[in-house]
Amino acid sequence: MTATENANSMIRLTGVNKYFGDYHALTDINLDIPAGQVVVLLGPSGSGKSTLCRTINRLETIDSGEIYIDGVLLPEEGKDLAALRSEVGMCFQQFNLFSHMTILDNVTLAPMKVRGMSRKDAEEEAHALLRRVGIDAQADKYPAQLSGGQQQRVAIARSLAMRPKVMLFDEPTSALDPEMINEVLDVMASLAAEGMTMVCVTHEMGFAKKVANRVLFLADGKIVEDSTPDKFFSDPESDRAKDFLAKILGH
Ligand SMILES: Nc1ncnc2c1ncn2[C@@H]1O[C@H](COP(=O)(O)OP(=O)(O)O)[C@@H](O)[C@H]1O
Ligand SMILES: [Mg+2]
Repeated sequence: MTATENANSMIRLTGVNKYFGDYHALTDINLDIPAGQVVVLLGPSGSGKSTLCRTINRLETIDSGEIYIDGVLLPEEGKDLAALRSEVGMCFQQFNLFSHMTILDNVTLAPMKVRGMSRKDAEEEAHALLRRVGIDAQADKYPAQLSGGQQQRVAIARSLAMRPKVMLFDEPTSALDPEMINEVLDVMASLAAEGMTMVCVTHEMGFAKKVANRVLFLADGKIVEDSTPDKFFSDPESDRAKDFLAKILGH
């Protein structure tokens, strides 16, 4: 198989297996995500959601299988990996902004260092991105001066500054106070509406129902259901998914 045969999928995993020691964390993952699709990844704690996200940009190595981004096989390591990884943005529960740098500098750092942009161009683009996430008025502040919701929106802008083809979100609202969750979900929903290919681990079922095109339900490192949100929430097939939904929707 050549790398270009998979050009129709933005993300493609074939036969991916991942072990932590003896523990089989991901089992035979086969997955095709077309460009522009918004996938919500659900599953009990420890089912492998974070591991799956982390393998997609090779923060974790895999033991077998192949991962393609926009038709290009992800290499194990080296310079090509850095370039491909920059095409996959990732936002985590912890925003991990650089605390000693202003909001603007947090967003311009990678484009200047990795993409070789001039400061002027990087700042222009950073302001545009900060406007897009509604934070431009805070550009000269430091992360600690912003709320958690604002910091997470900056983290999203920082990822977008690398012009990724794919965005991965791993519980981006889990560390936020409830009143800040929607401002982050709104930014994610608008990214989705603009056509970004997204994989989101989230406990926000409203987001899953409204924004996702597809729900993947993981259990024990396997994709147990691959469904639409409508079907998954109203008529899940597996006992694992029924049990999971009963627990999260049970009160
Ligand atoms: N670095 C690691 N070393 C060993 N085990 C790990 C590591 N990361 C995750 N695991 C294990 O792999 C399983 C899946 O973890 P994870 O992907 O974080 O699950 P989820 O995000 O669905 O809660 C868990 O049993 C977890 O303990
Ligand atoms: Mg996790």
